[in-house]
Amino acid sequence: MSAELRTQVAIVGAGPAGLMLAHLLHRCGIESVIVESRSRDYVESRVRAGVLEHGTAELLNDTGVGERMLREGLVHRGIALRFNDRSVRIDFPDLTDGKTVTVYGQQEVVKDLIAARLATGAPILFECPVVAIDAGDQPSLRYRDAAGAEHVVRADFIAGCDGFHGVAREAIPSDAITLYDHTFPFGWLGILAETPPVSEELIYVNHERGFALVSMRSRTISRMYLQCRNDEDLALWPDDRIWSELRERLGSDRGGPDVRPGKMLQKGVTPMRSFVCDPMRYGRLFLAGDAAHIVPPTGAKGMNLAIADVRVLAEALEAYYESGDPALLDAYSQTCLRRVWKTQRFSMYMTRMLHRFDEHTPFDHRVQLAELDYVTSSRTAATSLAENYVGLPLESTAGLRKVRS
Ligand code: FAD
Ligand code: DHB
Repeated sequence: MSAELRTQVAIVGAGPAGLMLAHLLHRCGIESVIVESRSRDYVESRVRAGVLEHGTAELLNDTGVGERMLREGLVHRGIALRFNDRSVRIDFPDLTDGKTVTVYGQQEVVKDLIAARLATGAPILFECPVVAIDAGDQPSLRYRDAAGAEHVVRADFIAGCDGFHGVAREAIPSDAITLYDHTFPFGWLGILAETPPVSEELIYVNHERGFALVSMRSRTISRMYLQCRNDEDLALWPDDRIWSELRERLGSDRGGPDVRPGKMLQKGVTPMRSFVCDPMRYGRLFLAGDAAHIVPPTGAKGMNLAIADVRVLAEALEAYYESGDPALLDAYSQTCLRRVWKTQRFSMYMTRMLHRFDEHTPFDHRVQLAELDYVTSSRTAATSLAENYVGLPLESTAGLRKVRS
């Protein structure tokens, strides 16, 4: 039996973008249906990003879903950049009028948003891949349920929050959008392991063997990354090799932080790319998050950018339903893309400064080290890095503030 649902906003994807959008819309009294291809268990255990910008953490708090983050998240007041076997700290509050970031796993944000959504009684249709989207004047989508039956959701608007490999962007005629992309000849091998963080704060390492990053999820769980090939074969990376490579790049035997092997909980390779779809809208279909753009992970921006998009979208939809005025919806793409391109710039800057590029000559390598020397010794340069890392100011919040008061 196939069913037909009707809602105001149909949301494709229950990642950070889709879930946060549904949450913000609910707070304005706007109804939505979320359709997600994977199971609840799968989306709640997918290990990905971990750093929340100042504004992202504030938004979670201000809209009532920050309680566990406040308890379990780790507030970080700086990062270290490590090069030539020495670490130099960048102090965020000092450089940004008191701002910080919060280390809290993406899957924890997803769990909190799913719990908040289900508590409202509003639906998330798990294990229901969307198979077709009609982005015309009377938008609709078709999804397939676990039994293989197809159903339709009709809506005023569709939000494509289905990530880079989703179907929403594909529903836009290719002559209506311009796609910009850049691929890097490397990726990150990421691990989650049961071992205490080697340092109180994150360390970004430039090493001749390649980039490394040490991060964490708690006081007992570390999250660490190594630059690797784009198509790296994980089978070539037994645990011992990962630990010794981390020790080498961190300089553990040369006075650097002491990486101690622990139980490996998860391993994976993420190829690195930059991608932007312009505009992020086609008629009544709006793209948000990874469906519209991908940044290389070096600035920890992917999830934050997804949250920033849906904040703009929720505010625009709120204004539309309140007054019938489509001005903010019409400005959606342009508003988001200004932040997206500045974030591409920052993520590219961090990536270029910290990774090893095969084509680099000794001259290029010296310039890279000079960049690190500059950003860690000039207050002006460090301020620029810090203000981008904690997150550039978010766009107007007038609409959201009104709802809260
Ligand atoms: P997603 O989180 O991708 O959510 C999209 C959702 O849509 C998914 O749940 C998916 O199952 C669902 N979906 C897809 N197709 C369909 C369909 N046809 N029908 C219904 N549902 C569908 N960023 C960082 O800052 N640091 C990191 O370390 C980092 N690591 C990453 C590792 C990996 C492997 C990946 C893929 C990304 C990583 N990112 C990282 C980026 C960050 O996780 C993303 O920017 C963030 O997840 C974007 O959120 P989103 O909601 O836009 O998309
Ligand atoms: C993490 C991921 C990042 O991309 C980053 O720049 C910093 C931290 C993390 O997963 O903890």
